Amino acid sequence: MNLPTSQVYPVIWQDDHVWLIDQNRLPTEYDLVQISRCDDMAIAIKTMIVRGAPAIGVAAAYGMYLGAREIETGDRDQFLRELESVAMKLRATRPTAVNLFWATERMLKVARQTIGPVDYLKTALLQTAQAIQTEDLETCRAIGDHGLAALPTTPHKLRLLTHCNAGALATAGYGTALGVVRSVWREDRLERLYADETRPRLQGARLTAWECVQEGIPTTLITDSMAAHCMQRGLVDAVVVGADRITANGDTANKIGTYSLALVSRAHNIPFYVAAPLSTVDFSLSDGGKIPIEERDPIEIYQIGETIIAPEGLDYYNPSFDVTPAELITGIITEYGVVKPADLVGLQAKQVS
Ligand code: MRU
Repeated sequence: MNLPTSQVYPVIWQDDHVWLIDQNRLPTEYDLVQISRCDDMAIAIKTMIVRGAPAIGVAAAYGMYLGAREIETGDRDQFLRELESVAMKLRATRPTAVNLFWATERMLKVARQTIGPVDYLKTALLQTAQAIQTEDLETCRAIGDHGLAALPTTPHKLRLLTHCNAGALATAGYGTALGVVRSVWREDRLERLYADETRPRLQGARLTAWECVQEGIPTTLITDSMAAHCMQRGLVDAVVVGADRITANGDTANKIGTYSLALVSRAHNIPFYVAAPLSTVDFSLSDGGKIPIEERDPIEIYQIGETIIAPEGLDYYNPSFDVTPAELITGIITEYGVVKPADLVGLQAKQVS
């Protein structure tokens, strides 16, 4: 099936610059930010102007090219040393989404393997960043197709639930979990999407809901604490979420709150799917206990917009991700098909590195 893509592209390469949709301003303002230097790309990733694992990978790949472009030496060894510093700067932005590390490593490898003067290396780096972006778009469409085929058959159209934003905004376009939703919607098999608001940064309310409204996908926004109730009331047929890092055994780090969603899905016998490209799988880690979990500024908990919502004198803990154990996951929807978490290792040879 050749599905059209959504019209939302969070990272755009145009006129020798990167343009990012400023995801901190959505849904009230749609703004593009021009990024011309590697340092600015690092800030954009850290401050979540661009976010979502595959989109971070695409942005970091362009960040590598922007950094390469700033290197002045014509000496190849010196260039490669300086490019490693560029990679380190980008990698220091966010620790959990493995696509950041996967993309910067792929860029470094291309630079090392390209024969010729430094200018050739720079050209190869731009081409690789563009390839990473194009591949991710194709990957998302394939994930959408496979997810569509894997979801349960029900007497009525499907009622799906998702968490955070694993949509076009979080990828090169189309989305992973939301890509599955899009494919179901376009085949006229979707009754409704339940979107968790996703505290504390509200990616569900701000971004998933925005994407769905753009496309006319029937969506009900709920607070995170309402998901169990919706399941108990029989309103949800399946849950589909994205991933920031999946380990070799299928344990999955995703936005905080995903683990509790998986637990309540199991309690209600509702299939729980993770939709992610192979670039999100970290085969070097045996299990999810080894995934670095980002902790963010507590302001995300105690302040909403301009309003302080908690009294002074508190301590805070603000982990941005949690790890869902593989045994709670019904299937992992990849661009190569849907696999049981235990069978993920069978796809290792297909991972582009
Ligand atoms: O902190 P964020 O907004 O970058 O977290 C994003 C998520 O957790 C997504 O679910 C994940 O990256 C998958 S995106 C296709």
